[in-house]
Amino acid sequence: AKEPVRVLVTGAAGQIGYALVPMVARGIMLGADQPVILHMLDIPPAAEALNGVKMELVDAAFPLLKGVVATTDVVEACTGVNVAVMVGGFPRKEGMERKDVMSKNVSIYKSQASALEQHAAPNCKVLVVANPANTNALILKEFAPSIPAKNITCLTRLDHNRALGQISERLNVQVSDVKNVIIWGNHSSTQYPDVNHATVGDKPVRELVKDDEWLNGEFITTVQQRGAAIIKARKLSSALSAASAACDHIRDWVLGTPEGTWVSMGVYSDGSYNVPAGVIYSFPVTCKNGEWTIVQGLAIDEFSRKKLDLTGAELTEEKELAYSCLS
Ligand code: NAI
Repeated sequence: AKEPVRVLVTGAAGQIGYALVPMVARGIMLGADQPVILHMLDIPPAAEALNGVKMELVDAAFPLLKGVVATTDVVEACTGVNVAVMVGGFPRKEGMERKDVMSKNVSIYKSQASALEQHAAPNCKVLVVANPANTNALILKEFAPSIPAKNITCLTRLDHNRALGQISERLNVQVSDVKNVIIWGNHSSTQYPDVNHATVGDKPVRELVKDDEWLNGEFITTVQQRGAAIIKARKLSSALSAASAACDHIRDWVLGTPEGTWVSMGVYSDGSYNVPAGVIYSFPVTCKNGEWTIVQGLAIDEFSRKKLDLTGAELTEEKELAYSCLS
């Protein structure tokens, strides 16, 4: 039998946490033959709710679940974890300045970076979900210098999956037949959902849709604004789709992407495609043996170029804002 993998979920008493932990315990993240031990962290005001989630995990009698650690102690939460899904953060509240939200999250991610660096298992893989996801991941990377930069990522897979969903609805084809969309840049409204290399079967999506105006307009804004549309409809932000995307992200990273397919991940930029280096930027990646590689050599037209630059500029600006919060 396989040794259990320890999976940390921070913010586990929240909405996404509640959708995510049963998925992890059912083997959706790491495979149906992989036992897991769940580590759940939240803050003291949520301690009782967190304990309730732990009770439900016990009650669900998941065969793969070999243990549950539910705690408000960051060190206990991080100790020995192999995978860390960082969902906890400070939400933007009405009337709050962007800088105030940034400042709260920078301090959370700075301290959790140290705890992970000191206590997580070697080679721990980190996925930041909490917003501003790219910049929280960057702060985590900066304050955990002994964790390799390649091990620190942020979630743009939800945006990627939303793009697949929109194309499948438009063409009335199975979502599993749509491949190789790309989300470039920031997990924000400046992200660029790009279908120029996407296919259904062996046909380019652009040829099948035959409507460039839609693809260059409404399709992009629908994906960019989908989070807001969900909030409007549900009065709560996306949770089951975010949890599912987090499982997709980790599963593909650990177990590999299928031959001929790429996915989108926010990773530490090396300046590929002439986007800024030194920020966490979403790229098309393939994964093998537990490591991601940016897909190289894709043609970038003029329309796309502007969009890659715009979202890159926003990330540079967010990085500066984050650093101004530190001093
Ligand atoms: P939520 O408010 O329901 O849950 C957040 C949880 O984090 C709460 O239980 C809170 O007590 C906890 N928390 C706060 N500070 C913490 C800390 N320092 N350590 C540990 N836990 C802490 O929010 P929800 O809906 O679960 O969303 C979580 C985050 O994910 C938000 O930042 C949201 O904006 C982001 N998000 C990101 C998406 C993406 O695609 N990257 C998609 C959807 C949401």
